[in-house]
Amino acid sequence: MRESGRLLAIVHDELGKAIRPGMTTKDIDRLGEEIIRSFGCTPNFLNYNGYPASICVSVNDEVVHGIPSKKRHLDAGDIVSLDAGLIYKGYHSDAARTHAVGEISKEAQKLIDVTRECFFEGIKFAKAGNHLHDISNAIAAYAEKYGYGVVEELVGHGIGTHLHEEPEVPNFYQHTKGIRLKPGMTLAVEPMINMGTKDVEWMDDDWTVVTADGALSAHYENTILITEGEPEIFTMKR
Ligand code: MF3
Ligand code: CO
Repeated sequence: MRESGRLLAIVHDELGKAIRPGMTTKDIDRLGEEIIRSFGCTPNFLNYNGYPASICVSVNDEVVHGIPSKKRHLDAGDIVSLDAGLIYKGYHSDAARTHAVGEISKEAQKLIDVTRECFFEGIKFAKAGNHLHDISNAIAAYAEKYGYGVVEELVGHGIGTHLHEEPEVPNFYQHTKGIRLKPGMTLAVEPMINMGTKDVEWMDDDWTVVTADGALSAHYENTILITEGEPEIFTMKR
């Protein structure tokens, strides 16, 4: 899992450096798949429940699961969320980042920053002996301070020899404690935060999730390991 995450962090770093106005969302997918395969790894999203690409590329009001297209060009001022995962020797990793395309508005940058901060607020509670929903509630509380909408229809998840394992990791307020966290658990924690309403809709391609009000959305995700102390973040360079 550690090596799977380390390699995925490199994929994200490379994709982040490659983003520029004019490129297509398909260009990003091609580059991402190429890097994953150069490691001898397999993209875990490709053909997952029929998903037709290796990287999810979601622009502006697209929340997650945007399907790469050679007709969709990135413009300066856009924000683009890249969600990627890979399999190394049978072990999955999963991570997402939202990037600015060229110069973006202050408001858009704030959304990107707060979404990343939501993840770090949440994982302050990701520790053996705490409860799963401590993470959820911390994420929700932080996003609420900024008046943002927290997506409820999609959640984080356990991860290991499968991309999606138990438990679900919600990003919104929970009225139960959730399971008790134990050392060795591996989770994908992934706040999806909207500038406006929390409500989302599915597009006709049955994959792309968009905000109901057309406002911007950002996504930030890492695969983490629960320990007795600080969680280990597998999908970030250390
Ligand atoms: N990264 C997504 C998640 O966190 C999975 C994408 S599923 C795919 O659950 F089918 F779109 F690839
Ligand atoms: Co995930």
